[in-house]
Amino acid sequence: MTGKMDSNAAVHPQHPKRLVFAPGDIKGPEVDGDEPASSAVRMAASHLAEDITRSDTSTPTSAMQQELLSHPARAHQFTINPPLHVSHLHPTNPLHQFHKWFMDPRLPRSSAPETCTLATASLPSGRVSARMLYFKELDERGWVIYSNWGSKEGKGEQIFGSKYRASADGTMPGDMHDSAALNQGNRWAALTFFWSLVERQVRIEGIIEPLSREESEMYWRTRERHSQIGAWTSWQSKVLWSVNSEESLNNPDLEDGRSDLENRAKEIESRFAGVKDIPLPPFWGGIRVVPESVEFWQGRPGRLHDRFRYVREEAGHSAKTSTWRIERLSP
Ligand SMILES: Cc1cc2nc3c(=O)[nH]c(=O)nc-3n(C[C@H](O)[C@H](O)[C@H](O)COP(=O)(O)O)c2cc1C
Repeated sequence: MTGKMDSNAAVHPQHPKRLVFAPGDIKGPEVDGDEPASSAVRMAASHLAEDITRSDTSTPTSAMQQELLSHPARAHQFTINPPLHVSHLHPTNPLHQFHKWFMDPRLPRSSAPETCTLATASLPSGRVSARMLYFKELDERGWVIYSNWGSKEGKGEQIFGSKYRASADGTMPGDMHDSAALNQGNRWAALTFFWSLVERQVRIEGIIEPLSREESEMYWRTRERHSQIGAWTSWQSKVLWSVNSEESLNNPDLEDGRSDLENRAKEIESRFAGVKDIPLPPFWGGIRVVPESVEFWQGRPGRLHDRFRYVREEAGHSAKTSTWRIERLSP
């Protein structure tokens, strides 16, 4: 089958079916006097959309391509920031610079500025995965996030390695707070923040270290009881249920694994019914991303953004005692 597709592709080059095509599909602000141009692009894009509903591929005709290419795509522009100059940055410490941007009064707490993406990679494949998290603490060493590291299906195995295991039923008695647990994994990680309201991005790359059990305990105690039950309940990222997509899924009473999760939550609730302080699970806790580099990006018109990166030159015990080189990067 692959051979057939390849030979077809060579004769009739076709694009895979597009479900979103930026010109026309991603709405942008209308520019004054731009109406005829943007409607031509919209028309070409909608012809293309009609075309792809009829087939598995979207191959624009040359006329459509002409129409689309003769108008600039409506890409988002970054307009609100004045120039960012190195003199605006903290001279010696990227963590302090992060703190300054994080506390910007233009970033309301309701916009959840603590939301970030954590990217990690498997060894030896190099396969990368990323997920949103809430960052919870910033200290002199780095950024702290909390999660469940127990299952081999999730990021736990990437970071802690395939030999690390810890389970809610105690049959796999690891503890993520034991830093030796990290020896087999890939400790490199990246955290990215994007604050659209202020048109800023911060990118952190560094090495993961687990918090001490005492540090994780302190945060665990602040969590609401039902979140603590949830943490014990979930063997995070383990497959609860699956189906072959050819089976019929129309039946709204189809049991799809949710009830197993809820039954398990009930079991955990009764297990801790008389317990005032639910203990910290051995597979749940905080890790700190200790930065090797931190980039501060601020959007500017015409894609000529300002980018400054701190790169650790000499490792001290904390970011405060390390020395950092500051570089301006091409946008
Ligand atoms: C906005 C947002 C915040 C989240 N915060 C956390 C968090 O702080 N900790 C966490 O373990 N999962 C959090 N999640 C869920 C993760 O994205 C992810 O599903 C989970 O950590 C499992 O990831 P894994 O399969 O890579 O282990 C959050 C999801 C969203 C959308």
